[in-house]
Amino acid sequence: MRAVVCREFGGPEVLDFCERPIPQPGPDEILVKVRATTVNSADWRLRSMSLPPGFGPLGRLAFGFTRPRNPVLGSELAGDVVAVGSRVSAFKPGDAVFAFTGSGLGCHVEYRCLAANGAVALKPPDLSYAQAAALSFGGATMLDFYDRAALRAGERVLVNGATGTVGTAAVQLARHFGAHVTAVCRQERADLVLSLGAHRVIDRESQDFAAGSTAYDVIVDTAGTAPFARCAPVLAPRGRLLLVLATLAEMLRSPWNTLRSGKRVIAGPAAERAEYVHRLRDLACARHFLPVIDRTYPFDEIRAAHEHVDRGHKAGSVVVEIEPGLWKTKASAR
Ligand SMILES: NC(=O)c1ccc[n+]([C@@H]2O[C@H](COP(=O)([O-])OP(=O)(O)OC[C@H]3O[C@@H](n4cnc5c(N)ncnc54)[C@H](OP(=O)(O)O)[C@@H]3O)[C@@H](O)[C@H]2O)c1
Repeated sequence: MRAVVCREFGGPEVLDFCERPIPQPGPDEILVKVRATTVNSADWRLRSMSLPPGFGPLGRLAFGFTRPRNPVLGSELAGDVVAVGSRVSAFKPGDAVFAFTGSGLGCHVEYRCLAANGAVALKPPDLSYAQAAALSFGGATMLDFYDRAALRAGERVLVNGATGTVGTAAVQLARHFGAHVTAVCRQERADLVLSLGAHRVIDRESQDFAAGSTAYDVIVDTAGTAPFARCAPVLAPRGRLLLVLATLAEMLRSPWNTLRSGKRVIAGPAAERAEYVHRLRDLACARHFLPVIDRTYPFDEIRAAHEHVDRGHKAGSVVVEIEPGLWKTKASAR
C-alpha cells in the first residue's frame, strides 16, 4: 500500500510516497481501507515543527529532533472495514467507519489498523466519506473544551477565529448547546458563520471585539490573538477563556490569572477520548454538527493540500480522497 512519509521537518516538499505492507489486524483490531483523510493544522505543525511560541524544545522532545518520530501524519480517516480481529464483534467487513487517531497519527495511508474499542464509529449514513473524515479534529477538540468549561444553555459565547476547522466546530457546537454565539472572522466569511448558527458576526479586520460593551460567559480563541489580558474586560464574572491556541507563557500564567480574577482560563491540549467520536456521530446523524469542507484533493496531490493548509486561512477542513489501486494502475500503464 502507499503511505505518505515525512522525511524531515520542513515544507510540503519533505513529504514522499512510499510502499509499505498492508498491516494485519491484531485480535482486537479492525483493518480499514481508507477512503478519505484530512490535512489539518496539527499536520502542518508537526511537519514543519511550527509550534506556538515557547513550545519548541518541548515539541522536539515529544515529537522528534530532526524529523517526526511518527513519520506518517494524519489524524482523521473514513473508510471501509475490510478485516476484523478474532475478538472483534462491534464491526464486520463492509462496515463504513470514521476514526480519530489524534496524536497517534498514521492516517495518510491506504490501509490502517485501529483498535476496535478506540475512537472509531460507524459512518453516519448520510455523510460522504469526505465529510465523515472531517468530523473529528475540530469536533473532538471543542467537545473537550466545552466540557471543561461546563458550557450551559443561555450563555454568551464568542469564538475568535470562527472559520477554521476548530472555529466552525466551536460555532456549531455552542449553538447546539443552546448558547448565544458571536463569531469573529473576516467580513467575507460572515455568511458562512451565520449559516453555522452564529447569531452575530464581528468583522475581525474593522472591529475589536474586546473594545465592545458586551460581556461573554465563554470566549474561545482558536487564532492565538485573544490572551487573557485582552479578553478580561469583556469576560463576565465567572467567565471562562478557552485558549485552544496559546503560547507557553500564556499557558503557564493561566492558573495565576484564574486565581486572581475568578475567571477561569482553560488551555492545553484537548483530551483524546473515544467517547467524543461516538458523540460526534450522534450529532452528525441528527445534523446538529456537520463538518465544513474547504477543499478536497486527490491522494496524489497531498503536497498541494499541505501547501493550502500552510497558508492558515482555510474555511473548515481540507480533505484528501484516497483511491487504492489507482496509482498502481497509472504506473503500470506507463
Ligand atoms: N489545544 C488543542 O488541543 C488544539 C487542538 C486543535 C487545534 N489546536 C490549534 O488551534 C489552532 C486552530 O486550529 P484550526 O485547525 O482551526 O486551524 P485553521 O483551520 O487553519 O483555522 C485558523 C483560523 O484562525 C483564523 N485567524 C487567523 N488569524 C487570525 C486573526 N488575526 N484573528 C482572528 N482569526 C484569525 C483564520 O481565519 P482567516 O481565514 O480569517 O485568517 C482561521 O479561521 C491551531 O493553531 C492549532 O494548532 C489546538
